[in-house]
Amino acid sequence: MDEFLIEGQQPLNGTIEINGSKNSGLPILIATLLTDEECVINKVPDLRDIQTTFQLLKYLGKSVEYKNHTVTIKSDKPLKYAAPYELVKQMRASILVAGPLLARLKKTQVPLPGGCAIGLRPIDIHLKGFEEFGAKTTNVRGDILISVDKLVPTRFRMEFPSVGATENLIMCATLMPGKTILSGVAKEPEIDDLMDFLNKMGANVKKHEPDEIIIEGKPSLGGATHTLIPDRIETGTFLIAGAITGGNITLANCRVDHLKSVIDVLEYSGAKISADGDTISVSGPKDRPRPVNVNTLPHPGFPTDLQAPWMSYMCIAKGKSKIEEDIFENRFIHTAELARMGANILVDGKTALIEGVESLNGASVMASDIRGGAALVVATLCAKGQSVVQRSYHIDRGYEKIEDKLSKLGARITRQKSK
Ligand code: EPZ
Repeated sequence: MDEFLIEGQQPLNGTIEINGSKNSGLPILIATLLTDEECVINKVPDLRDIQTTFQLLKYLGKSVEYKNHTVTIKSDKPLKYAAPYELVKQMRASILVAGPLLARLKKTQVPLPGGCAIGLRPIDIHLKGFEEFGAKTTNVRGDILISVDKLVPTRFRMEFPSVGATENLIMCATLMPGKTILSGVAKEPEIDDLMDFLNKMGANVKKHEPDEIIIEGKPSLGGATHTLIPDRIETGTFLIAGAITGGNITLANCRVDHLKSVIDVLEYSGAKISADGDTISVSGPKDRPRPVNVNTLPHPGFPTDLQAPWMSYMCIAKGKSKIEEDIFENRFIHTAELARMGANILVDGKTALIEGVESLNGASVMASDIRGGAALVVATLCAKGQSVVQRSYHIDRGYEKIEDKLSKLGARITRQKSK
């Protein structure tokens, strides 16, 4: 197992490039199951979850060739309808194969993903949607079997704007002849990216404000070439890392419009942000940051995926701040590790109260999920002395070679084998 060794208190400086988005890459790779024709996707980050998706696609009947962040996906064998537990348990987004497979084969079987470190994460909204499309869902010894004679386009209102359910149901509806109207949908930029890709494949998917997506189903879809949008969560994590170290960094390949809520609070904290085309620069506050409260919300609200790195930043703010986590019920696991570094945080249900301290101290800490792990790296960058962030494999699920990018910005960070 690997870990990161970090020597803190080194202001970050310089320029790096942001990768393509993991969270639009996963559904878009899976959407290739909707066609037998060749698809080419560019700027696909080299991450564990992406590699797991490649394995899943190969298992289901695709050939996958990945080189220099471009992946070419072709049909290799007839599609299988069932996804294996070995892969699904590694990555919850595997549930997204259900929509395309149901649309193409009228039957799919996917192991229930189960809970994970950040919450229970049920898939009831996905299943309710498939049932509204006329499918029957049955639990067969921990797998969910979904089958249908004929999918029926309908109007379905989601009780919560789930990102995954929106993606799953859109993909399924692209091959259901007739008009499907999904309302109460998620509005994350990754949904727009998936819709763009599907429309390039010949689908007819449109947004209808305020919260609807209308899909006119087609008998079949073709191949397409697409470039993934920049990863807004990687961008946000580096912006916070630049700010917390009092550094001055520039990030290339960004979408400023995807990060408005994050830029607003960073500016309020005293950081200076400037944007020019697809680059964003941040200069950290001269003094300790000003405390700023955030609550996580569906897009365009403050993203839950940046809640943990934001908490690290607020740990050294000049005063008290509050974070409310309104998306996941258990996404504060990193607080106990931050406390080991001298942070002063009180968690009560979905609220965390943070009393900023003068500085954090280096310590040995352990990552337990992607973003919580990234938050620990961010915190150690500004901490006094040496730190070790154990279980770096969690961080590798969402950040490609984070240590190389941080080193390029002047951080003293190395990857080593755990003792
Ligand atoms: C996506 O997960 C992202 N993952 C997550 O990124 C992100 O945190 C999350 O959206 C919220 O923005 C990918 O895109 C691959 P949801 P997803 O369905 O689709 C509840 C990261 O670090 N819910 O919008 O699983 C659920 O339990 C991650 O990159 C139901 O109750 O998120 C959660 O509390 C991890 N029933 C909330 O909704 C359902 O059927 C949001 O979940 C579905 C969801």
